[in-house]
Amino acid sequence: MADVVEDVKARLDIVEVVGAYVQLKKAGRNYKGLCPFHSEKTPSFVVSPEKQICHCFGCNKGGDMFNFIEEVEGAEFTEALQILADKAGVKIDNVSKFAKKEGKGEKDEYFKAHNLACEFFERQLYKTDDGKKVLEYLYKRGMKDETIKEFKVGFSSNQYDALYPYLMKKGISKRVLMKSGFVSAKGVGSDEIFDKFRGRLMFPIFDYLGRVCGFGGRALNKDQMPKYLNSPENRVYNKSRLLYGLYHSKASVKENDKIILVEGYFDVILPYQEGIKNIAAVSGTALTSDQATLIKRLTGNVVTCFDLDKAGFEATKRSYSILSNVDFVVKTVSGFEGKDPADLVKDKGGKEFMKFVEKAVSFISFYVDRLLETNNIETFEGRHAVIKELLPLLKKMTASSKDFHVRELATKLGMKEQFLYDELESFSLPADHPAREKAGSGEKAEGFSLEQVICGIVLGEPKLFKILLEKVNKNDFNGIDKDVYKALYDQYNKARNGLREWNLDKGFLAGIREKLDILLLYVEEKYGALSEKSVEDEVEKLVDKMKRTRINKQLDDLRIQIVEAEKNDEKEKLIELLKEQQKLLSDN
Ligand code: CTP
Ligand code: MN
Repeated sequence: MADVVEDVKARLDIVEVVGAYVQLKKAGRNYKGLCPFHSEKTPSFVVSPEKQICHCFGCNKGGDMFNFIEEVEGAEFTEALQILADKAGVKIDNVSKFAKKEGKGEKDEYFKAHNLACEFFERQLYKTDDGKKVLEYLYKRGMKDETIKEFKVGFSSNQYDALYPYLMKKGISKRVLMKSGFVSAKGVGSDEIFDKFRGRLMFPIFDYLGRVCGFGGRALNKDQMPKYLNSPENRVYNKSRLLYGLYHSKASVKENDKIILVEGYFDVILPYQEGIKNIAAVSGTALTSDQATLIKRLTGNVVTCFDLDKAGFEATKRSYSILSNVDFVVKTVSGFEGKDPADLVKDKGGKEFMKFVEKAVSFISFYVDRLLETNNIETFEGRHAVIKELLPLLKKMTASSKDFHVRELATKLGMKEQFLYDELESFSLPADHPAREKAGSGEKAEGFSLEQVICGIVLGEPKLFKILLEKVNKNDFNGIDKDVYKALYDQYNKARNGLREWNLDKGFLAGIREKLDILLLYVEEKYGALSEKSVEDEVEKLVDKMKRTRINKQLDDLRIQIVEAEKNDEKEKLIELLKEQQKLLSDN
């Protein structure tokens, strides 16, 4: 296990891993960006390529690339491992064997329930008479056995008590059955339950790691409502955070550096069967930014292939907006309106579908053409309407895209480019992220004591330890800081001649390596840009401040004790205390 983890770490750079989620700017030795874990306006999220760690000095979250992925994806270690292994191109035969044995909780019960249900539905498809009719239907839609098995398509029989008694016998609790949407209670407060998926074609939904976490149950008769009965969201199923088919397609998406996004289950499965494997479905809803993030792990190129009726077009537009916000190149397939990819592939074959995909044009060009078709650009109003629609999209573009599309639009409208640029200049986008603006006071919980900062600077600049030697001793430090000081003292003595030989990976320091790295990062950020001399002055100042703070605290303590001694008339003790006070005051 350690080998795989080390292998993955060695192949990836944390800057690249984090960079897929956060816009990073180089700042000295490190990179900085807005923290993905809390809302802020001034970047306090730092990534260190040398230490291969990241840390937010605002909310104190971060760590190595595994910690980062766990946090940002809400993933467990095994999931983080899979995500990073995919990125690194490292093959892991069986991720689940990396799962921590302990802490197997409710999540596992959900996965177990879904897995058992999936197998149950598959058996119903192949082994029952009703199921065999449904199998015929699948063949008629163009699916082959091999594909049906690969996507684990199944059938739920038309009974109220088929699945749940089976799952309960296998130890699944009623609570999990209810929360997974497998059953409903017969009445309010009733203990009796019944199966909800009945007489439906069952598409299991896989998460990024291939675990079944939900189902889409398609109606098989015209009078069955709704057309799709879908699992509710639960502990293991968050529909805005996964894409149907992505588990099967992720390798191909990466290989082709492109993903084709479609609407439905059949639209994924049929092209996939024809070898067009870099495909996934949004399952009838609009693309979310979480899904965009998911895709970004694998590619920056998206070809959307949605229905282009009015609702579908709006969905395409929204998807474009979400994707372009995170720097995707988005193309749009058009030209086979009225048919979906599944039907096209079934009737005309995968090659024909690919022709459309290859002919896909950038969304903006597609949109421009569509606007030109629906508006009369010979009139002022028509032109105005076209430009008004496009300004928000153009405004957000990078300079080079803007240049390209402004030129294209100007040509198509037969007008001067400069005029469009003028319009763009005076157009302002509605505030995009109100949430981001309101939070983030700029106040940072730095989380380090003076003593720690001093130790941190010295860790980075060992020769400054001499200042500490002159001015303080181990008793000026408390708790873990004292141990750090002692360790530094020790190393300083050993390394007197060659001061570069600090070794943080030995002894006590190795045990708190992670903490020290963050401390070092903090110090780098704060003092890294200063000259050697200024850092030295800074340490002097900090040490003085530390001493002053300590003395003031001791004086406060003494004052309390003196009052106490006076009250109790303890003369000898009082004299001692006053002497001590005198000494401290004269030292200060
Ligand atoms: N969908 C849904 N709930 C609905 C309708 C649709 O969740 N009531 C989702 C499903 O994921 C579906 C996709 O939207 O696959 C596309 O819907 P549609 O085109 O209506 O269904 P298809 O799966 O394409 O089914 P078919 O081709 O058999 O009509
Ligand atoms: Mn369809």
